Amino acid sequence: MKEAHARIPILVDCDTGIDDSLALLYAVASPECELVAVTCTAGNVDALQVAENTRAVLELAGRCDVEVAIGRETPLARALVTTPETHGPRGIGYAELPPATMPLSARYSPDLIVEEARRRPGELTLVTLAPLTNVALAVLREPELPRLLRRLVIMGGSYRSAGNTAPTTEWNVNVDPESAKIVFEAFGPTGKGGPAAGDRSIAPTRPTALGLDVTERARMLPEHLAALAARAGCAPDGSVAGGPSAGGSAVNPIVRYLADALRFYMEFHSRYDGFYGAFIHDPLALAAALDPTLVRTEAVSVDVELGGRLTTGETVTDWRRVWGHPPNVDVAVEADSGRFMDRFIERVGDLAAGRS
Ligand code: BDR
Ligand code: CA
Repeated sequence: MKEAHARIPILVDCDTGIDDSLALLYAVASPECELVAVTCTAGNVDALQVAENTRAVLELAGRCDVEVAIGRETPLARALVTTPETHGPRGIGYAELPPATMPLSARYSPDLIVEEARRRPGELTLVTLAPLTNVALAVLREPELPRLLRRLVIMGGSYRSAGNTAPTTEWNVNVDPESAKIVFEAFGPTGKGGPAAGDRSIAPTRPTALGLDVTERARMLPEHLAALAARAGCAPDGSVAGGPSAGGSAVNPIVRYLADALRFYMEFHSRYDGFYGAFIHDPLALAAALDPTLVRTEAVSVDVELGGRLTTGETVTDWRRVWGHPPNVDVAVEADSGRFMDRFIERVGDLAAGRS
């Protein structure tokens, strides 16, 4: 008999978003993942559209039971800037999904994060795939949050590589740098998460951050989509040969969704990044939260620039330790992208096969 392993309870905060939606599918497809709830942040699209996309994707994956909550609809101190050129006008590229039918939670996202962390102290891993607005509000409300969580895994920042929004800034941090700064400080050694906060029974851990340095190594190419579709038993556009219509009109809904969403994302990358494919930042972060061996990290001191003329939103990283501060973030410096891509194809392909 196979030994049953305890599942890893995961709270996802996202701004769904094409790659966010792939991360949600990966979470649902991962047997070791207990998807506790999903909180929505304004980012790639406005918060209401994020909540709509998130629920529609979870329904597509057969998970109408997962609680989905909405949070603040703007960054803490700035106007919201969205990304229609990257993710499409509704955030899911060319894909069309049926309107979501599952209810939206009555809880406000920052409250949900705090309440769930208090309910299961030291157990939850919070994975953020979006601007850090909800987490900043949560930690302002509950300064003990860094101790109440088991881990915080962040997709955000650009630590040793170029930015993707301004020359040195990554999108999630760029949208709400004030929130990013609050989170990095609160979870750092001088915040409540650190030793300065005293010796408590549940030890805090440094957040892990996956920036563009590693997430741009996770590249979804057309051949990956073809392999995933083959695993699901259909063509790369989702059509199923010999379906009831015999004209190929039967489709696998998950593969069709991936094909339509990714076509938009790949066209964007071909215009701006020089290859026909897509960086899948958020799924790598989710996968690394479930399996930390997918990345190698270095403990460093990171601060967020708020007052730069050219650099606001930059994650300024003290690689040479000139500040002399204790580290506040484990920054991912290497990722096993081959192992990750194989796993993504297998898991999401099997999920799709089961939903055909
Ligand atoms: C991040 O920005 C968003 O557009 C993506 O969903 C990802 O979370 C990458 O910079
Ligand atoms: Ca995202």
